[in-house]
Amino acid sequence: MARYFHIITYGCQMNVFDSLRIADALRTRLNIQETTELEQADVVIINTCSVREKPEEKVYATLTRVLKYKRRRPHMVIGVAGCVPRHAGRAIMDRFDFVDFVMGPDHVSEVASIVSRAMNHERVIATSQARRGQYVFPAFARDFRPGPTAFLTIIKGCNKTCSYCIVPFTRGPEQSKSPRMVMDEVKALVNAGAIELTLLGQNVNSYGHDLDEDVDFVNLLEAVASVKGLKRLRFVTSHPVDANDELLRAFSRIPNLMPYLHLPLQAGSDRVLRAMKRGYTLDDYLRKVDVLRSASPQVALATDMIVGFPGETAEDFDKTLSAVRRIEFDQMFSFKYSPRPHSAAARKPDDVKPGEKARRLQALQELHEEIQSRRMASLQDSVQEVLVEGLSRRGRQNGVGQVFGRTPANWVVNVDAEDPDDLVGKIVRVKVTQVMRHSLKGRIIDRPEGMQAAT
Ligand code: 5AD
Ligand code: SF4
Repeated sequence: MARYFHIITYGCQMNVFDSLRIADALRTRLNIQETTELEQADVVIINTCSVREKPEEKVYATLTRVLKYKRRRPHMVIGVAGCVPRHAGRAIMDRFDFVDFVMGPDHVSEVASIVSRAMNHERVIATSQARRGQYVFPAFARDFRPGPTAFLTIIKGCNKTCSYCIVPFTRGPEQSKSPRMVMDEVKALVNAGAIELTLLGQNVNSYGHDLDEDVDFVNLLEAVASVKGLKRLRFVTSHPVDANDELLRAFSRIPNLMPYLHLPLQAGSDRVLRAMKRGYTLDDYLRKVDVLRSASPQVALATDMIVGFPGETAEDFDKTLSAVRRIEFDQMFSFKYSPRPHSAAARKPDDVKPGEKARRLQALQELHEEIQSRRMASLQDSVQEVLVEGLSRRGRQNGVGQVFGRTPANWVVNVDAEDPDDLVGKIVRVKVTQVMRHSLKGRIIDRPEGMQAAT
């Protein structure tokens, strides 16, 4: 009888990538098929994130939800993977006796054996960290078929010591994938149909420093960009200290490198940046933005920001607002500080009151929304090359479907189409007809070769 697995993924793209490799292993090594229906699953894996308190809380809510299904299917095997088990694996096993295994991010390549042990009624705890240089990158299944856009982890872990951050503990020290392995995987993904690739790492800029070969991130970008058939290349994420001028200028040199840079600033006050141990001042960051924008003004700049870090005063927060006013980010992900286990800042009093954190977050988001809508307004009536990624959730209405895709600068565009299925995986020219709050609407003006022009 066919058996099914279901994976629920939280967190960053690295987790999304790991979930795909987990799926590959269960399909090809244990002959279990993927299902989108939780109630049909024999194996359920929750791939978790612990970067902030809020995503971590989701895990516990999800476990309670999954338990309802397990009551109806008692043989269901339930596992918790990803970052939360690194610090709470044992506690999860104690508190939720229906959980069959917990595994940390360094155990993804062993998932088939962990799941088969769990299916044989063993409770498995695999939360240790790989020793330096000993991490095994999970492999792609031979029959893996990427969509038009694919992800590829090129470096795991993080060697920084940002004082708010749990990631160096959950994901361990940096380890770069060998350039040969990266290139083989890139070619395989492109041959299998990917036309856009996003290179992933907690800090891709430090790629290569731990390898014997003389290679750095910019060399790797150039090599990947030159793979035949790869139309679009992206990467996330970058630490400002390691984003050197060569990288910032790469956007003007590498034609298929898409104009989008995620460069987290985190705070606008030097005092807070120092307490966060970020290793740069606001001026250092501004200089990087200048280098980037003078070489390639078209690059969309995205950031992460934290409000309410321990000791952040109203004056510090004003500096965050004025930095944001000055830089004008295209996209911002902003969060209230929450203390995380195994991070240095967790030892300091979390002294900005919850109401004040909420107020600061709202003020920051309002300011950013105003800037973003002004910047996005300039896209009205522009013509954009859009890589169509899939069908929009709206589905078909009056016989007309809708597809969504992204512009080079990473804006999501929704486009009406009579032949939506044929457009997926194609790059079409789109005129922007409407600028929405966080996305665009457009009309196709040019189709790829071999397809009829729109009337
Ligand atoms: N509290 C709030 N936000 C955090 N981030 C990381 N750690 C914390 C924390 N303890 C944010 C940072 C990071 C993003 C992924 O999450 O902005 O860039
Ligand atoms: Fe979350 Fe960080 Fe782990 Fe990604 S690496 S899943 S963001 S805690």
